[in-house]
Amino acid sequence: MSINTYKCVDVGSENCPCELAVTGDCLTCSRLQGKEVCDCDWKGVCILNEFMFNGRHAQNRRKEKECPVLSKYRADSDFIILEIGVQKGFAIRCMYPGTYLFLRSPEYDHYYDVPVSILDVSLSRPSVTVGIRILSAKTKALNEAEKAVFVRGPYRGGMAGKNFRNMGGRIVILSSGAGVCPGIFACNLLSAVSEVSLIAKDAPFEKEMVRKFFHPRDFILTDSAGKERNRKYSRGGNIVFRDFESDREMEKIRRSVRMEKPDFIVILGSRKFVAEMYGAMREFRTQARFVTSNNVSICCGEGICGACEITLRSGEKIRMCKCSESADPEELFAEPVQSLNR
Ligand code: FES
Repeated sequence: MSINTYKCVDVGSENCPCELAVTGDCLTCSRLQGKEVCDCDWKGVCILNEFMFNGRHAQNRRKEKECPVLSKYRADSDFIILEIGVQKGFAIRCMYPGTYLFLRSPEYDHYYDVPVSILDVSLSRPSVTVGIRILSAKTKALNEAEKAVFVRGPYRGGMAGKNFRNMGGRIVILSSGAGVCPGIFACNLLSAVSEVSLIAKDAPFEKEMVRKFFHPRDFILTDSAGKERNRKYSRGGNIVFRDFESDREMEKIRRSVRMEKPDFIVILGSRKFVAEMYGAMREFRTQARFVTSNNVSICCGEGICGACEITLRSGEKIRMCKCSESADPEELFAEPVQSLNR
């Protein structure tokens, strides 16, 4: 009997069982898939039992809600920051690394839903802040929203890597471009329980984002010349800006990683950036667990449409919006990079 080892990011959450249980496609429960025996390795509350108890319906289906735009401004020529007013309970549920939301302008229909990583959460306002690079039809449509946006979420699969939701210990985060948004967010959250080093690209955009959204109570800011800035406390970790394109700077990064001996190395940015950094950090693959941005094409986020499906080396197919905790970055980013495509 084979054990089903897929780990769905929603399993055991308030959104489990989901629509996939209704159609007999639950990614974790073999009984809901129509098998005679239970062969899941889920150690929480039985999904089948929950499904029956819930009258064979999905639990807490994520619904979109119109929310006010509290502030909007341009952080770069093609990058906007939106602060969106939400209910406090919703804001609390967003406070996990790798969380993302679907957003769209009220003037457009569902074709225009855009998955966007969370950059910051405020419980006092309460609000969530996101950074959006304006690239094409969906993001251009979202950019037209001035007063309100439709919000659906939160979704938990914004990162990929075994057990990324249990990150702890020493963590090194490499981030560039839009990847600096989930990088800052992860740092702000994880620094309360872990020792985190954020290494961001040494460029005006990344520096500005760190300056605005990093909550620096526990951090030392260091520029690429090695000068410490804004020293507060030594506990919690440090932030360094580096030029990832310079061999000399990359060697400095590797040297500091060798000294820090992190438990997790997190790489956040474009598919190209992640693949390059994964290659550059090759020597640490046996010592640290790798976590990356979940850079596949996300469409529904619910495991239904199949847009995010990838084929593992074993030939098995997994849906990365739901099973990104089952994917090893070695499968995704070890050369050739095209292994990401279906
Ligand atoms: S985005 Fe639709 S199945 Fe993953």
